[in-house]
Amino acid sequence: MNIDGTPYRTIWLDDDGWSLRIIDQTKLPWGFEILRLTTLDQTAHAIRTMLVRGAPLIGATAAYGLCLGLRADASDAALERAAALLLATRPTAVNLRWALARMLARLRDLPIRARPAAAYAEAAAIAEEDVAQNAAIGRFGVELIAHAASGGRAVNILTHCNAGWLATVDWGTALAPIYQAHDQGIAVHVFVDETRPRNQGASLTAWELGKHGVAHTLITDNAGGHLMQRGRVDLVIVGADRVTRQGDVANKIGTYLKALAARDTDVPFWVAVPSSSIDWTIDDGVSEIPIEERAASEVTMVTGRALDGSIATIRISPKESPAANPAFDVTPARLVSGLITERGRCAASAGGLLSLFPEQR
Ligand code: MRU
Repeated sequence: MNIDGTPYRTIWLDDDGWSLRIIDQTKLPWGFEILRLTTLDQTAHAIRTMLVRGAPLIGATAAYGLCLGLRADASDAALERAAALLLATRPTAVNLRWALARMLARLRDLPIRARPAAAYAEAAAIAEEDVAQNAAIGRFGVELIAHAASGGRAVNILTHCNAGWLATVDWGTALAPIYQAHDQGIAVHVFVDETRPRNQGASLTAWELGKHGVAHTLITDNAGGHLMQRGRVDLVIVGADRVTRQGDVANKIGTYLKALAARDTDVPFWVAVPSSSIDWTIDDGVSEIPIEERAASEVTMVTGRALDGSIATIRISPKESPAANPAFDVTPARLVSGLITERGRCAASAGGLLSLFPEQR
């Protein structure tokens, strides 16, 4: 997508042909900094500390991280060690496991000297497929937005966290239909949940929508139910970090509450999900999806630009008060109106998913 007219992706190879370039997402929206990653350890650190984040981008970054590891040592032991290191960085988004499994399947049986080149080719394929899948999600999702458009007034869409191009290699998942609607001249307006504690909505979604010229309004996480009750939301579209075989959806903490409010107010609640985020090995999301617990400091502190222009991190709670920080929650399939995948839309159910992905039967 474009930043001030210049097309960017979230991850790409440097001109040297082997090191990685990423956008440091912890600096947005105050600063736009591009980092160069040259080692496996730097890549694992970038995922763990959320310099890059979002389920599809985590997967693509891990694939390239493996490439950097193999440049240093492509032996069997080093390959397995590198994959284990990357796999341990973040537990909830299944794209990480999916991308590493795909890389290992491609590389394990190759002679050691052939591994680095094959790894770069596979990582590039993962990245390109992500872009194509998200574009397809956009095409299937824009039909929902067009359907909701009536009388020339803007379609109001609520989204949570950041499932835009910054969370993927390009396009985004939940935001792909919104970008395509905007580009086709369908009037859209997005209510952006700020998404405490890390504020991915406020700092990332609002930033990228603004850069693309999409009308949006930032709201507190608690405002969505009220807006739905007042008829101000036509549609909710969110992304996913992991969708189970039966259609349960793990996504950023707070998604479940939005789904409950949407059900109570009859607002359609759609989840945009590339197949790389579907975990075919589990059924029940509530009991089976690992939920990442992050540092309490993300809850007790906030970072922003102070009035004097400096970037400041401040404490918002009593020093003595403990805090808990589950980073994701699970929305049961029964609350999901449907899934938007790269193969089309379907019910959030085993039958719905298998109708689009019969090879998983
Ligand atoms: O903790 P994050 O920022 O990696 O969480 C991101 C989300 O929850 C997104 O909604 C999800 O990954 C979908 S991304 C297309």
